[in-house]
Amino acid sequence: MTPSTELQRPIIKTELPGPNARAIVEADAKYVTPSYPRPDYKLVAEKAYGVWVEDPDGNVFLDCNAGVAVCSTGHCHPDIVKAISDQAAKLIHLCGTDYYYKHMPELGRKLDEIVPIDGPTKSHFANSGAEAIETALKLAMYHTKRQKFISFFGSFHGRTLGALSLTSSKKAQRLGFARQALDVVHVPYPNCYQCPFNLGKCGDGSCCMGTISWIEDRLFNTTTPPEEVAGIVLEVVQGEGGYVPAPTEVVKAIRQICDKHGIMLIVDEVQSGMGRTGKMFALDHHEGVKADIVCMAKGIGSGMPIGVCTAKADIMDWHKGAHASTFGGNPVAIASALKTIELLEGGLVANSAEVGAHLKAGLEKLKEKFECIGDVRGMGLMLGVEFVTDKASRKPDAALRDRIEMACFERGLIILGCGTSTIRWSPPLILTKENADVALEIFEAAIAASL
Ligand SMILES: Cc1ncc(COP(=O)(O)O)c(C=O)c1O
Repeated sequence: MTPSTELQRPIIKTELPGPNARAIVEADAKYVTPSYPRPDYKLVAEKAYGVWVEDPDGNVFLDCNAGVAVCSTGHCHPDIVKAISDQAAKLIHLCGTDYYYKHMPELGRKLDEIVPIDGPTKSHFANSGAEAIETALKLAMYHTKRQKFISFFGSFHGRTLGALSLTSSKKAQRLGFARQALDVVHVPYPNCYQCPFNLGKCGDGSCCMGTISWIEDRLFNTTTPPEEVAGIVLEVVQGEGGYVPAPTEVVKAIRQICDKHGIMLIVDEVQSGMGRTGKMFALDHHEGVKADIVCMAKGIGSGMPIGVCTAKADIMDWHKGAHASTFGGNPVAIASALKTIELLEGGLVANSAEVGAHLKAGLEKLKEKFECIGDVRGMGLMLGVEFVTDKASRKPDAALRDRIEMACFERGLIILGCGTSTIRWSPPLILTKENADVALEIFEAAIAASL
């Protein structure tokens, strides 16, 4: 394996995609579903190490996306590879929902220590973020004996039918699927830059309280009586919707609403969790606020498929057989998750905060330089850069964002869009300041070339 520290810059030596990559893209078009939401640029991976991804033509890219916020410990971290291969040599599968092995209680105990939930917890193991959300939805319905949910415009919680009922970040995710499976009502997400309430006093967080009055004064008095609401599902930093952090006032007020009406606060940390924001969980940025149920996936397994729903122990009170999964909590995936958490606690969460601040400062400088950068936001290594036609109008410029994404790729930098006109930065949490400086230099050149 190539040591990640030796290589300092991307290497682009063919046209993109090169001949070998092109053959794979062509075969994919023939045999693979066209429903995947791939960006305009075509990255084909042959191997990856640290923050670098190599394609089948020998081009090497600096990865500031990490397989969409998944490879938290970097690609093929040697400790993760060892944990996976050691475990694979011992026990790959037995079906932990019918039999026992040590891995489930070990990860459950570790999560009990670190998740932002007060008191004892229990965990249910699945294979993806959407499955973790499905678990949370079923659990909230079961426990409260209620059926309605509140979700936010711009949210993304997955594509299975229950999770899809919550999801609302893009029309393409819902088009063609007719009615939503669950009774979900959507409310505006607090967005300080693109204020959904047009109150014009953004900046101090106060106008975002419009979200709270929307729930309390409109929904609860009309379509959605609080005594019928099982859960409010919240991304503390909205991910696919544009990397938008919610202000503390709103997060606290949502907790209070839940307390007042016996509603479950379900916090979706699938993208924002596991050190991505510079703390273990995004909710940790909001002191004193705790969830009832937390969903995790993506970064928890360093690339192995695992989703977890952790809840207060007395909420996870369902009967035997109520919810399970053949592969969920697979020993190999859990071995990877346990090693991932060890590496996160051993320095990567701190690195996310430190290098994230460095990267953000560099992006802020670019914001001063370019009229088309309207907003730079986020915490740790979960940063969003929103592109606009001009700073005064704040009108999103999706076409420019797409051109910049492509121009980055052509220069060997992997970044990905989210929201209407935002570029997300979600690199592996091992990113160094030197890597960040290289990425910033390429980003600047890509913006200049795309105007
Ligand atoms: C916040 C959030 N929740 C849930 C999901 C769904 O996860 P998965 O794609 O693993 O089903 C995602 C995926 O992007 C996500 O960002």
